[in-house]
Amino acid sequence: MKIPVYLDYNATTPIDLEVVNEMLPYIHTNFGNPSSSYSIGRSNSEAITHARNQVARLINAKPEEIIFTSGGTESNNHAIQGIAYASRNKGKHIITSVIEHPAVIEVCRHLNSQGYQITYVPVDSNGMVNPDEIANAIQPGTILISIMHANNEVGTIQPIKEIAAIAQQRNIVFHTDAAQSIGKIDTDVRMPGVNLLSIAGHKLYAPKGIGALYIKQGTTVGNLIYGAGQERGFRPGTENVIHIVGLGKACELAKGALEKHRSNMILMRDRLLHGLKNTLGELVKINGDIENCLPNTLSIAFKGIDAHTLAALISRDLLISVGSACHSARAEISPVLKAMNVNFMTAASTVRISTGKGTTADEIDFAISVLTAAVKRLQ
Ligand SMILES: Cc1ncc(COP(=O)(O)O)c(C=O)c1O
Repeated sequence: MKIPVYLDYNATTPIDLEVVNEMLPYIHTNFGNPSSSYSIGRSNSEAITHARNQVARLINAKPEEIIFTSGGTESNNHAIQGIAYASRNKGKHIITSVIEHPAVIEVCRHLNSQGYQITYVPVDSNGMVNPDEIANAIQPGTILISIMHANNEVGTIQPIKEIAAIAQQRNIVFHTDAAQSIGKIDTDVRMPGVNLLSIAGHKLYAPKGIGALYIKQGTTVGNLIYGAGQERGFRPGTENVIHIVGLGKACELAKGALEKHRSNMILMRDRLLHGLKNTLGELVKINGDIENCLPNTLSIAFKGIDAHTLAALISRDLLISVGSACHSARAEISPVLKAMNVNFMTAASTVRISTGKGTTADEIDFAISVLTAAVKRLQ
């Protein structure tokens, strides 16, 4: 067992060794520009086509509906700004939720400064968006609804099927940020009403700095950048073949073992939860609804403990995150927990623990003993 034990897979994942091996030839020997017509150019172009097929297969899309991006943030920006710019003659109203990642919230805030109106629908105490709230927020000028598939902090899985159906009925484009759900739960873009879906490579054992955006055929999306015609003109610039190949392989691996990985993540997460309940009893409180949650995510408060102090105390042994995760250098309470009406003291004592596809029982048992000792010490 490697110490510190890493239990922060929602922040990022290591690159799978099979993914590394797939990428290696494109780092040195097979370095051609995919637009070149000679053989090492063509083989790079073929590698991109192959990767596009692998990504498409994971979410049941057509390969031509996938464009490669630099990650979840760019995919969300492209989807939201792309629709805002392409549809500005139809209207300037966008609906999203209060618990989106900053890669959605900040884009909406920017668009607001450009004259767009944004409605942020609330969530309930489990972090769930109510589809009725979405339906009620629709106005004649609503051009886009953007609701995340699963939340990065508490793991709540949103009713995107119902929300997408509402969007479709009202002829409104629907985007979902699936950065956290892809590779953890089954995701099929063929459900009616989904026009755009964001993928982040580093959450599913591909490298950082690569992602994809699903754009349903027939959806008109503006560009963020302009240049030569790569990615069918949607995302020009010489392709990041190395990382694209990595994302493709990671998607293939995720598709092949989704159920196996999902059940291991649940098993390990639940072992952790039960272990902590056994050792700490009433001191432990879960945020959100564990039954409607990503298989790997535990948002857990330790009564009376400052989460930052706890995480720092155990960081030689165990790596977990405080409150809001992948962007958590801030001292304030997570907006997600605030939106769920979690009280200040509970929010201030909340950590996020997220298991991975390869997390072992030994690691979990070690985590239980480290957390138990630290919480008892800080009590
Ligand atoms: C839900 C969600 N959306 C978007 C992102 C941003 O993805 P990336 O880090 O690839 O830009 C993240 C990761 O931090 C995330 O958890």
